[in-house]
Amino acid sequence: MGSPVRTPDYARRAWGLPTSIKEEEVVKFYSAEWEGGNEGQLAIVSKAAKKAGFGDNPALLRQKTAEVVRSIVRDYPIKGELLILDVGAGPGLSALTIWKELPTDIRPKSRFLLLDPSRASLEAAEKVMKENRVNYEVICDVDIHVGRHLKEGIVDILVGVASVHHHSAIPFDLYYRILTPGGIAVFADWHNSIWEHPWRVYRFLEAFDWPVKEAGLREWLESYGGVCVIEPTDPADRQANEDITSFWLGYHQILKESETDLGPNSIWPLEGHRPVVRYVEEMKEVGFSVGSPGIKRMLEQGVITGNPHQLLPNSRLLMVTVGEKTKKEEI
Ligand SMILES: C[S@@+](CC[C@H](N)C(=O)[O-])C[C@H]1O[C@@H](n2cnc3c(N)ncnc32)[C@H](O)[C@@H]1O
Repeated sequence: MGSPVRTPDYARRAWGLPTSIKEEEVVKFYSAEWEGGNEGQLAIVSKAAKKAGFGDNPALLRQKTAEVVRSIVRDYPIKGELLILDVGAGPGLSALTIWKELPTDIRPKSRFLLLDPSRASLEAAEKVMKENRVNYEVICDVDIHVGRHLKEGIVDILVGVASVHHHSAIPFDLYYRILTPGGIAVFADWHNSIWEHPWRVYRFLEAFDWPVKEAGLREWLESYGGVCVIEPTDPADRQANEDITSFWLGYHQILKESETDLGPNSIWPLEGHRPVVRYVEEMKEVGFSVGSPGIKRMLEQGVITGNPHQLLPNSRLLMVTVGEKTKKEEI
């Protein structure tokens, strides 16, 4: 399990944590999970999703992101080149899926910036980018340091596919600043409210079997108390909580079947996932528009059926949220 420090910042009180923890510290807890991994780590996420009966969730998120980006570029005024920043690019599959969906006349004008803290994943990404002749650069760092590498206001399209939840306080303000006016952010992510409360995590843990389960659960209650919270009232939010539990049961199955432990490629529950409504609120707070004319056009054309757009039929587990940094005159 990850540290409770990784859970959403608004949930710290429920965990008995101090309310002021620097994001730099939180990011270290996430780096411990991701920095040492390679492309096999992401493959495990896909495998666990398939074991849980979903199909390839990461691929679903990537594909919808790519469709949204294709729709954006159709009307986007490209000045010289189209700069696309992939936050948490991992082994390059999100960037590649987007690149493949770009109209062929736009591809030569595009430059992909692949940002990730994992050196090994970026090496795998470079191979994929070269094989496909993508114009790219890699930035081996975490997103909160993006300002060390890029000037503000230069990125046309920023995407985060299954990556920006690796935060307690998601730096939407930084993402906003790095975008050019009129630039667009696309966040395709996992959402649920399990990690918001120790009681929900207790119920989550009850679904698993492990040798010292009884003692473990007792210790959990001793540490965090047994204060119950009710499940979300909306069925799609409740389903998201059930779905994330199924995902981790799938992962647990992989662990049991594997002869060795997964080493630096293991993944840990207890994360910064939060209901998608929080993304919308947090994005609006820093200045993003989620209903700009460009986004409305995407809705009219059916590229997205809502903003946020729901990917699974009855569950808000996988969602794509689009925000535009509107130009001054449009505010
Ligand atoms: C689930 S993978 C997704 C990779 C890729 N976007 C894709 O769709 O295939 C999440 C990635 O986010 C990266 N990551 C974690 N914390 C990050 C941070 N603070 N800044 C940038 N990337 C981060 C991890 O190293 C990992 O490669």
